[in-house]
Amino acid sequence: MPEGPLVYRQRLITRVTHWVWAISLFFLMLTGLQIFNAHPSLHIGMESGFDYDNAILTIGAREVGGELRGVTQVLGAEFDTTGILGVSGGEPRAFPAALTIPSYQSLATGRVIHFFFAWTLVLTLALWLAASALNGHLRQLIPSLADLRALPRDLADHARLRFHHSADYNVLQKLAYASVLFLALPLMILTGLSMSPGFNAAAPWLLDLFGGRQTARTIHFLTMLALIGFFAVHMAMILLAGPLNEMRAILTGWYRTDGDRNA
Ligand code: HEM
Repeated sequence: MPEGPLVYRQRLITRVTHWVWAISLFFLMLTGLQIFNAHPSLHIGMESGFDYDNAILTIGAREVGGELRGVTQVLGAEFDTTGILGVSGGEPRAFPAALTIPSYQSLATGRVIHFFFAWTLVLTLALWLAASALNGHLRQLIPSLADLRALPRDLADHARLRFHHSADYNVLQKLAYASVLFLALPLMILTGLSMSPGFNAAAPWLLDLFGGRQTARTIHFLTMLALIGFFAVHMAMILLAGPLNEMRAILTGWYRTDGDRNA
């Protein structure tokens, strides 16, 4: 555990927006899986339908020997996913009830909640961006040349689970947070907008940019998987770096540093 002085590391606006994102992403993910269940396949290209064979992922159910089995096809390869995908609780459904909001099948309810949190996410991101540009936080997230030069050392330190606790983020944190805030979340929002018929009418170029609605939907889904990957690593790093100190920072703003040892 670090033994140096406490520093004020996370401003109120950073902490509030962080928790609004965490709650929003929870609801967006589970309502997203509800929406996915209404048409459980992903396509690449401008079209989808019975006449086209451009699916890269399909989750379905099939009767085998009088028993209902869950079948998932990924890029032509087929897997029996009974109990998790395709069939769960004896019922045919792509993602199981435990992973969707609401737990029962309701596309309409899923969409209402999804759009509510999508706009909450857009507005808090805009607020975070404006505040972070003004208060200097934005600069702390963009790696400098010196940061990039320190990347191999930082990677080696992380691989050996040796963490430094200073007032600023380390270069891997900067790269991870910047990828989420400037790449993954904007991509999520833009592909989401390009699936909206109203937005297509206003800005048809966005749909063309993503190669059609089906490709936009596939990118939206893959970006969601990338965000889950980030979240898993984010949780692992917090546990390894000292969860009490990290949680204090994101809840109260105060963070204990290594002091002279590693600052
Ligand atoms: C239970 C859920 C979560 C917990 C406990 C948590 C915890 C934390 C902590 C402790 C920090 C500060 C790290 C530090 O100061 O060293 C942080 C920052 C951050 N987290 Fe999370 N997090 C959660 C969910 C998420 C989710 C779902 C996302 C987005 C996918 C996310 C994205 C970020 C980002 C981008 C930052 C940097 C924010 C900034 O500097 O403006 N977190 N999180």
